[in-house]
Amino acid sequence: MVINHKSYSAIKLGVKKALVINNWEMAKECFTTNDIVVSSRPKLVAVEHMSYNQAMFRLGPCGPYWQKARKMTISEILSSHRVKQLRHIFESGSIKELFTFWCSNKNECGYALVELKQWFSHLIFNIVLQMVLGKRYFSLGTVDDEKAGRCVKAVKEFMRLFGVFTVGDAVPWLRWFDFGGHEKAMKETAKEMDSLVSEWLEEHRQNKALGGKVDGVQDFMDVMISMLDGQTSNGFDADTMTKSTVLSIILAATDTISTTLTWAMCLILRNPNVLEKIKEELHIVGKEKWLSENDITKLIYLQATVKETLRLYPPAPLSAPHEFTEDCTINGYNVTKGTRLITNLWKIHTDEYVWSDPLEFKPEKFLTTHKDIDLRGHHFELLPFGAGRRICPGISFSLQVVHLTLASFLHYFEIINPSTEPPDMSETFGLTNTKTTPLDVVFKPCLSPNCYESNEEVFT
Ligand code: HEM
Repeated sequence: MVINHKSYSAIKLGVKKALVINNWEMAKECFTTNDIVVSSRPKLVAVEHMSYNQAMFRLGPCGPYWQKARKMTISEILSSHRVKQLRHIFESGSIKELFTFWCSNKNECGYALVELKQWFSHLIFNIVLQMVLGKRYFSLGTVDDEKAGRCVKAVKEFMRLFGVFTVGDAVPWLRWFDFGGHEKAMKETAKEMDSLVSEWLEEHRQNKALGGKVDGVQDFMDVMISMLDGQTSNGFDADTMTKSTVLSIILAATDTISTTLTWAMCLILRNPNVLEKIKEELHIVGKEKWLSENDITKLIYLQATVKETLRLYPPAPLSAPHEFTEDCTINGYNVTKGTRLITNLWKIHTDEYVWSDPLEFKPEKFLTTHKDIDLRGHHFELLPFGAGRRICPGISFSLQVVHLTLASFLHYFEIINPSTEPPDMSETFGLTNTKTTPLDVVFKPCLSPNCYESNEEVFT
């Protein structure tokens, strides 16, 4: 059953009611005046099996436990110290590596071919795993460790299973039939992820017992082990809290950022005028030096390109599901406690009352007509990271990584689409909307060779 209004749809998913919001006015009403009553999460079948029974704070209800885990994440992972660390990993690893790859794979015209969807995915896994676990697993085209391959596979499966329709979520008494075998797959994925993270936890404990790491740098898991030592919270013991929070970050950070980078490159390659403008803007950096943080703040057209990518291809087009914890009224419509809230970000981002030519890719709008709109949940017309108390805590981190990756890639290398066809834009829908097909590009370095050696001083 669907009752259609311009601004929302009230739907029934079996016995469960859901409110789907489609415009910014409704989003504003939900995430400001009603924020406190829309901030819980539904206990979906996938959540039950794959979140340590809601110990993953991003999938659990609001409350002291959620607050504590969220605070720890923000202060530890997203601190400026960690962000500095990430720049080092990024520059010394990825650009140099791509240059080395080019040296051994270039053709007679001086170009090498790289599949960017996978390169972005491995790059972001390296960055996130380094920060969270102190590990770097991938080099170009290869997986250096069997565990890393298992981790990538498990994350992909987790995302897929969150996107599938599970009968048990709509009609609980049919749950035991497990049509499609989704619950079985969820249990297997949860088991695999737990086995991986338990091994990492054990390794960290052993390192700690032996006096800590040689370089003395603590990763997020080290910090959690020390902070939570023997504590329980909300009925969860320290190990469950550590494992679930570490997995929360890996799951939230990897696919979202690499998906954004992949769509951004597709859109740039489909719009040569945009590529030209970004290249022109990159002249600010100069041909003989590494990109600095300072340079990124000046690349306003590149930043507008990223905003426009997140408008048209929000990595989580339906955001994350919320649940009403009280009866309330939204836009004159009575919503009962227990109703699910689905925020249709894609619809909000392409609302013709807000955006002219809503389906066209035109980054210029963020320098002119929409220049005051930011991505931090203040402007309800553009909410790729959500809004309200459940807003994504990884906004600054994500934007920093996306800007740095795109700017570096386009600054250090000349890129060309190897096909006469523009990149394919077909999407596979799960928890994130990923590009279905690979993204091949040919590239060659365009700066002097000494620019591809890592320069430690830049990062201190
Ligand atoms: C382009 C990158 C990203 C996008 C587009 C994105 C988007 C989102 C969205 C739409 C939500 C749901 C908000 C809501 O429930 O209303 C969310 C939640 C969340 N994100 Fe992100 N995210 C990104 C990257 C990251 C990163 C890098 C991290 C961590 C380092 C992260 C951690 C989280 C967490 C922990 C939550 C749950 C917050 C809570 O329930 O309190 N995300 N994100």
